[in-house]
Amino acid sequence: MPTFYFQTFGCQMNVADSDLLAELLYRRGFRKAASHNDADLVVVNTCSVRHHAEQRALTRIREISKNKAAKKQVLWIIGCMAERLGESLEREIPGIDRVIGAKEIEHIDKTLDSYLRNCGAEEIVDPGTKPATTFIPVMRGCDNYCSYCIVPFVRGREHSVPANVVEERVKHAVEGGAKEVTLLGQNVNSYDDGACDFPDLCVRIHAVDKLKRIRFTTSHPKDCSEKLIKTIADLPKMCRHIHLPVQSGSTRILGLMNRKYTRDDYLRRINLIRKHIPGADITTDAMVGFPGETIDDFRETLSLFEEVRFTAAFMFAYSKRDQTQAAAMKETCTEKEKKARLSELIECQTGITRAYYDSMRGKNVQVLITERQKKKDRYWMGRDFGCRNVLVPCKRDISGTILNVGIAKSTGMTLVAERI
Ligand code: SAH
Ligand code: SF4
Ligand code: F3S
Repeated sequence: MPTFYFQTFGCQMNVADSDLLAELLYRRGFRKAASHNDADLVVVNTCSVRHHAEQRALTRIREISKNKAAKKQVLWIIGCMAERLGESLEREIPGIDRVIGAKEIEHIDKTLDSYLRNCGAEEIVDPGTKPATTFIPVMRGCDNYCSYCIVPFVRGREHSVPANVVEERVKHAVEGGAKEVTLLGQNVNSYDDGACDFPDLCVRIHAVDKLKRIRFTTSHPKDCSEKLIKTIADLPKMCRHIHLPVQSGSTRILGLMNRKYTRDDYLRRINLIRKHIPGADITTDAMVGFPGETIDDFRETLSLFEEVRFTAAFMFAYSKRDQTQAAAMKETCTEKEKKARLSELIECQTGITRAYYDSMRGKNVQVLITERQKKKDRYWMGRDFGCRNVLVPCKRDISGTILNVGIAKSTGMTLVAERI
């Protein structure tokens, strides 16, 4: 039986795309290899969001392509960088057999067989059980054109998956054993299939029998409406977590970024969430060193972080991407300044996250166990009803179960439960 191995970079959408392709390969008789060395087909799923993300993928692709001939391996490059660079990638790195752009993945079932001729798979096999938590893309692409962002160019126009199709996919996942689904989209709250908006979709998915939890990501602040916030508050399966990227605390910079909200709009949204869903985890993305960002603009991002006190944040240094509007703006921060601002912001947030996690000691949380902790025997990883990772010591196999556990301690970014 032929085998495959996936190396996935980038966001959850890429993880979902890799899962989708893996399932299609399973159905065509492939099996998963333990490492890329043992695989007949190696697939690298790439990200273009920052220069560094592309460099990491390129390094990996070069490594794999060097040894593949001797092992008679087939190498496919898929995803956002594959979309951006297209066939020039094949010319640049000899040994790549296929380049499949992000826009094609959604329809890959139709073209996949023609790619598989030299991989020798025929037998149809049932993919078997689903993991306890599964990503379900509900909309793809993005029309927001934030001025720094490559995603609209590599993922294309925004379009929603019809609600009945989403519902079928959720049911299929639940029948395979999933307890939790994450509804995915670059801009998921602007979901609209013509008859159903995002809060309505949540209501519909909430009714799926045996599904225990629903998550979603990512929310653009302009689409995170009061209707949505109230819907989350009303539906007990909706996890108490909203990822609401702010990007900057300065209204002037938000304008240059084309984010369509001000600092005050954002803070009002936070207050609305806190009012209707007390105790919800709110997380964010932010970047430093956007063209024109002064030290005062940066201080506004810091003060916003201190004011909101996010549970956690992803923080980045601005990276110029060709084709985007910001690529034409004059960069005003040196790399050194960007680094210094990024460290300061990370330090500020790390303190907040640590304090927050420490305050969980002695409390009870509800955990969905998703996998075995690889490095520690008899430890299991899970997530609570918000966004926190929880490590649970237990001798039995408890994967896929939902448990109430007491928190013994925190390691800063992970909660550790009492032994059960
Ligand atoms: N669709 C999501 C996330 C897109 S990419 C959203 O709208 O928030 C994830 C994060 O990468 C973004 O939130 C942003 O903080 C960061 N990012 C995107 N483009 C970037 C760039 N050119 N340089 C640095 N960070 C960037
Ligand atoms: Fe990029 Fe903005 Fe779209 Fe997010 S909303 S994917 S940051 S353009
Ligand atoms: Fe990267 Fe593409 Fe996601 S550029 S962040 S993998 S949509």
